[in-house]
Amino acid sequence: MKGITITQSVYLQLKTKKYVFVPHNEFIIPKDLNIYNIQFKKDWKKLEKDNYLKTGRSFRYRRFRYFYFLPVSGKILAYAPTPYYQPAEINKYAGDIDRKFSPLKSKTINNPFFQELIQFDFRQLPVSQKEKCEPWLVDIHQIRTVATVAESGEPTPEGIHHDENDFVWIHLIKRKNITGGSSSIYSNDEKLLASCMLHKNMDSMVFWDPKVMHGVTSVHPKDPTKNGIRDVLLICFTHRPGLQVPTGNSILDYKEIKANINPPALSEHGYKRRMDMESTPE
Ligand SMILES: [Fe+2]
Repeated sequence: MKGITITQSVYLQLKTKKYVFVPHNEFIIPKDLNIYNIQFKKDWKKLEKDNYLKTGRSFRYRRFRYFYFLPVSGKILAYAPTPYYQPAEINKYAGDIDRKFSPLKSKTINNPFFQELIQFDFRQLPVSQKEKCEPWLVDIHQIRTVATVAESGEPTPEGIHHDENDFVWIHLIKRKNITGGSSSIYSNDEKLLASCMLHKNMDSMVFWDPKVMHGVTSVHPKDPTKNGIRDVLLICFTHRPGLQVPTGNSILDYKEIKANINPPALSEHGYKRRMDMESTPE
């Protein structure tokens, strides 16, 4: 089966600009693979409530799983289901918590379109040959944000932020009966660089996470008598040369993953903060 290709050079833009918006019609998805995309989109109907939203809010549904990825061989291995972890310095809304989300279903993991999308997304990244021969930690999030008249949906409740990855792809799965949800990229001192609206399935964006920040505006139902829905897939890549392959044991796998969480953005920002402090006159 042929893989996904693209009409523009994401690689060059990402290398120079640090982010790229990719409209759906620039992806060339072979017909036999696109059949699996149709199935893949349906998997968002079976997400489960995110229990880590503040003050009892319920606008987000999700599934999540960590993967081991060795680009040179194309090997993608799922870790046993584990919690999701972000340090508090990165996620002020829900950091330093072992967040237990339902895992991706095996049907989703084994979907050929999904498997090829991970490989395709990685092929566009500006990484060296050496880095392609070393392991990467990949976290995958299936997220549904729901908006009602009583409660807006917040795709990024933590505001303008970094994730804890080297590169992040966001693919729109579906947008139904909503207004808002504009995606923006910011410089590391939070100046707006660009915005775009992801409208159709596979409208996408990719960014070099330590180099830029991102955020998404809240969503509201267009027709107030019905719920609004915004479904996205996040594929997040972090280079981790010492990462070990999954053991199949949740406790051991989570220990290995947490030992490898050393957010690139945090390292850069921690360094920047120290430099700022050192240069501030007393
Ligand atoms: Fe994010």
